[in-house]
Amino acid sequence: LKARMIVDKSFRISEIDERIYGSFIEHLGRAVYGGIYDPGHPTADEHGFRNDVKQLIRDLRVPIVRYPGGNFVSGYDWEDGVGPVEDRPKRLELAWRTLEPNYVGTNEFMRWAKDAGTDVMMAVNLGTRGIDAARNLVEYCNHPGGSRYSDLRKQHGFAEPHKIKMWCLGNEMDGPWQIGHKTAEEYGRLALETGKAMRLIDPSIELVSCGSSSTGMPTFPSWEAETLDHTYEVADFISLHQYYGNRDNDSANYLARGMDMDHFIHTVISTTDFIKAKKRSKKTMKLSFDEWNVWYHSNEADAKIDRNPWSVAPPQLEDVYNFEDALLVGSMLMTFLRRADRVKSACLAQLVNVIAPIMTEDGGRAWKQTIYYPYLHASVYGRGVSLKPVVDSPKYDAKDYTDVPYLDTAVVHNEEEDTLTIFALNRHLTEALDLTCDVRSFEGYAIEEHIVLENDDLKAVNTADSEKVAPHNKGASELKDGVVTGRLAKASWNVIRLR
Ligand code: AHR
Repeated sequence: LKARMIVDKSFRISEIDERIYGSFIEHLGRAVYGGIYDPGHPTADEHGFRNDVKQLIRDLRVPIVRYPGGNFVSGYDWEDGVGPVEDRPKRLELAWRTLEPNYVGTNEFMRWAKDAGTDVMMAVNLGTRGIDAARNLVEYCNHPGGSRYSDLRKQHGFAEPHKIKMWCLGNEMDGPWQIGHKTAEEYGRLALETGKAMRLIDPSIELVSCGSSSTGMPTFPSWEAETLDHTYEVADFISLHQYYGNRDNDSANYLARGMDMDHFIHTVISTTDFIKAKKRSKKTMKLSFDEWNVWYHSNEADAKIDRNPWSVAPPQLEDVYNFEDALLVGSMLMTFLRRADRVKSACLAQLVNVIAPIMTEDGGRAWKQTIYYPYLHASVYGRGVSLKPVVDSPKYDAKDYTDVPYLDTAVVHNEEEDTLTIFALNRHLTEALDLTCDVRSFEGYAIEEHIVLENDDLKAVNTADSEKVAPHNKGASELKDGVVTGRLAKASWNVIRLR
């Protein structure tokens, strides 16, 4: 099996916005309590946050974390989570039917994020609340002082404003499961008026208007068109959410899901550009793919969780990821890179314990799931300019897709560091793919390493005790006369790094 590609410095798609390597922490399951926060843990810092988890997040160089939800935010009163912890109420949390103790709230999370080296993308509640709660939260977080809510923040021990730049106007408001679910018309009006008020307090913030919860929603893509008719001028981003699973155990089809994601992005771009034209607007809407991942392994276990009595942090959505999931995650990351001109933000949902690359044992070890690795590689090596590779690859037909290229690839040129990175997935399940890549315009470059994530078992998983799926850097590739030749093992994720 052979594939060829050409890469050239001048085939620029766009500068990559590093926020495409964002992630997400929701008050859900063991993400906060027992995940990032565990005061009794041997590595806990003075505020109760686990240092071992923080370190894994720093290693990933996560640029931004969405918080506090998710479905959770649509029933959340942010005031419950600030002020003296002993005075905070315990609340029945309706999205996931748990008990929310409010030990962690806005200020604690902001302090944690700073420590973990990441920014925060804050979501406001447009389910049970609206303009008033949202504008007060912006005042509390971003206003320097001398007003009711900014002074309240100071009184709570945070003298400096948090300066949160990116704000989500609600979450998945198109979904009937959402608390306070709305029609497109209802949401569009509310999001516009809320965004206006928030921006009057802090004109420097960026706002995300809710798009569809998935391509499968019956209102997709008219939801986008109808809501943007209201929010186009106030919003900077529209959100996209999508999760995949291999429920029918058809791996060839599963590994082609990136094509579905690409089509989703394409449709949202077309829809937003239609509204741009309709409004004679000069602004081009950016895309925030602020929930994406594999999510299906834990569905059955979750259905069995006893919700009576209401409990704090039950183990919900704890997918254990296998090797093929890591391949798909790599493919999804490459999809963002190839759409780097419009996708300017994305959040791997989520970060710790809940459909996450990082897992923790209660009071014990933190460990890396299979999907940790493609995420790490993309985040660390995928910064700079995304280049458009010209690809000639053999193809296959799968159940839901035709003409799926065996070679899935994205290329990044980091001009400052003088590096070129070729990300490449071989989708063939049984055969290696011989790759030839013309890199003639990168004179003087040499191969630094060829990282490979491979495994004979597509279903291999990692645990706290054994890391069966981990990368090595013994990939076989060489560079001669401006051409890289390399062998991509069957079903493998590859990162070929040149400098
Ligand atoms: O990430 C898990 C959930 O998926 C989020 O709470 C919700 O927004 C989405 O449906």
